[in-house]
Amino acid sequence: VFVNGNAIFNDARKGHYAVGAFNTNNLEWTRAILQGAQETNTPVLIQVSMGAAKYMGDYKLVKTLVEEEMRVMNITVPVVMHLDHGNYEAAKECIEAGYSSVMFDGHDLPFDENLEKTKEIVKLAHAKGISVEAEVGSIGGEEDGIVGAGELASVEEAKAIAATGCDYLACGIGNIHGPYPENWTGLNFDRLKEIADAIDTPLVLHGGSGIPQEQIEKAISLGVSKVNINTENQLAFAAATRKYIEEGGDQNGKGYDPRKLLNPGYNAIVDTVKEIIGWLGTPSVK
Ligand code: G3H
Ligand code: ZN
Repeated sequence: VFVNGNAIFNDARKGHYAVGAFNTNNLEWTRAILQGAQETNTPVLIQVSMGAAKYMGDYKLVKTLVEEEMRVMNITVPVVMHLDHGNYEAAKECIEAGYSSVMFDGHDLPFDENLEKTKEIVKLAHAKGISVEAEVGSIGGEEDGIVGAGELASVEEAKAIAATGCDYLACGIGNIHGPYPENWTGLNFDRLKEIADAIDTPLVLHGGSGIPQEQIEKAISLGVSKVNINTENQLAFAAATRKYIEEGGDQNGKGYDPRKLLNPGYNAIVDTVKEIIGWLGTPSVK
């Protein structure tokens, strides 16, 4: 069974640590994230984007896959099943499908509409004990078709969205999806601090891949409780797979067993997940 994210991220904010939110893409990703969390004995959030859910089948299939892998792998750590960057329809569908958490991302709507729709999703989700992530400002770059200009979240808007009762809040603070460009100037800690001083809602750092460890730690010390990681695992998977093939691990081009070909990439995801959980300071569960 999945746990709701509310208590996990509230504890994280109070305890000045964060919990990792990792995107899944398929069976291997799902298992590797679960294995990384189980080996570190820490809670974890598995999230799926609208694009990845479509790739895998649908929202219900993803939820069933995660649930069944947890059973087969004897996972004992708390797992939150979350929709990442959902539109209004996707959030509603995942509430129906039994996710324990959904993100409603209304960054591309006029602010009043983002606020109204966030309120509606909070009401529907909370009636079923499901937690909700909302967004103010926007995350730069592109992730699975979700494009953002990277506008800085305003403190007033963050306060208004937090007042909907959403459980955690993603804020644009100079963070970007995908790899960071050479000329990136870093996270805007002044704005992060202003927002964190104004609201108690746990804050979410999107675009976690490629942010230097010190900046992640500073963001956590200021009120970030959920750190989203997607690209980092993709880079690790691709690099390990490429290395395996280049070094002739696939019997110099003769190997074709998919389980062998996918194994180095799989192990690289497990290692990445464990390393990131270490950075976040997530405490072990008793
Ligand atoms: O919503 C997911 C994240 O914000 C992932 O961003 O791919 O840059 O790690 P990333
Ligand atoms: Zn994101």
